[in-house]
Amino acid sequence: MSKETVTITDNRTGKSFECAIKNGTHGQPVIDCQALPKEVGMFTFDPAFMTTASCESAITFIDGDQGILLHRGYPIEQLAENSSYLEVCYLLLYGELPKKGELDQFNAEIKSHTMLHEGLRNVFSGFRRDAHPMAMLLGVVGAMSAYYHDSMDIYNPTHRNLCAMRLIAKLPTIAANSYKYTMGFPYAYPRNDLGYTENFLQMMFSMPSEEYKISPTAAKALETMLILHADHEQNASTSTVRLAGSSQANPFACIAAGIATLWGPAHGGANEAVIKMLDEIKDVKNIPSFLAKVKDKDSATRLMGFGHRVYKNHDPRAKIIRGICHELLNELDTAKTPAFEIALELERIALEDEYFIQRKLYPNVDFYSGIILSALGIPTNMFTVMFAVARTVGWISQWKEMLEEPSMKIGRPRQLYVGAANRNFIPMDKR
Ligand code: CMC
Repeated sequence: MSKETVTITDNRTGKSFECAIKNGTHGQPVIDCQALPKEVGMFTFDPAFMTTASCESAITFIDGDQGILLHRGYPIEQLAENSSYLEVCYLLLYGELPKKGELDQFNAEIKSHTMLHEGLRNVFSGFRRDAHPMAMLLGVVGAMSAYYHDSMDIYNPTHRNLCAMRLIAKLPTIAANSYKYTMGFPYAYPRNDLGYTENFLQMMFSMPSEEYKISPTAAKALETMLILHADHEQNASTSTVRLAGSSQANPFACIAAGIATLWGPAHGGANEAVIKMLDEIKDVKNIPSFLAKVKDKDSATRLMGFGHRVYKNHDPRAKIIRGICHELLNELDTAKTPAFEIALELERIALEDEYFIQRKLYPNVDFYSGIILSALGIPTNMFTVMFAVARTVGWISQWKEMLEEPSMKIGRPRQLYVGAANRNFIPMDKR
């Protein structure tokens, strides 16, 4: 069988070069252009990596045109319906759904790592009380590098696994501590008699002074939220984790780099931005004027929670999350907020508007996730932290996959230099 190729011809010299076409399991094939600089003396130019596949990965597949999201081949809808978050973590990390005994062992191992080193808990007290919880999460996860030296040999598979366990287990504890610290409340220790999500809720909301009852509705909604955010192939934060990891940096530092990237409003900060936007709109009657501002090219206002770099049809996660919003609305009084009513109407109007139709802009996962988190009592500044808790497994699975490739190289994009041409230094008195 002849090898499929694409011919690249340099029309200045007539020199041609055959680039191999590589096919994956699903999705568009890619042109392997690694030999291009050597063969034709040029790099490819692709700002924002709009058309570049940076790695091979067997973890997550997205078809943005069809609105499909698969983890290890399993559709997100089926995982959200039938799995627990820790089962999805196992799947992402090890490639297969666990058998009962394997899942029990995984759960037990995660539980054995939920506590934080007491020294690490003290790191929180160095922050201002009004620090953003993302700043604390970023700092404390980075500081894990200073506390867990026994798992930092990145070339040792046991160490890599231990790091993954520690990160998945401790992120909820760090997240809850960040919140408690900003509030001036005492930290709650993890309770290993509870499930992952229930334990997080008790660490967030329990007080020594009274009994805290965990709402099963809240726990189920949060569990689904975590599943929906667990991984999303080579997005900005995941690519950052891979790039940091490619320099052989320790995994805690790499995850901290991912957290930093996630913080931006174009990425994980969007859920927080959606709630701010809904608050700003205030009333359904103000939606038309708000949308006029969004469509005005002279205004920087965007409809937050709409649009996606990859999904150009619908975001399958948004559909699931919208369903949870409705369930919560029926079951929790805290869900009955004007924000949900405004969001529904905003979505309805935008989906019928030519501006959004033409540009294939649909609600993404973050359009509704903030509404759910608010209904669960989670404050707005903790939304991106929640996203980070959920995404940690995706980051560490992708990091692990990269480390396990025999041919791992440091990531190093090139550039098209457009600055001043080579020139001689001008002494101060001649400038
Ligand atoms: N509101 C208004 N216009 C928009 C929006 C929006 N949310 N998103 C894109 N556009 C317009 C944009 O102005 C441009 O119009 P034109 O062609 O006239 O210049 C066109 O649509 C294409 O936009 P783009 O910025 O080139 O698209 P992108 O693929 O680079 O951006 C995005 C993707 C997610 C950054 C962007 O849609 C956005 O800023 N959305 C709002 C923020 C948001 O919800 N982010 C969460 C993403 S999902 C969670 C995650 O995976 O992290």
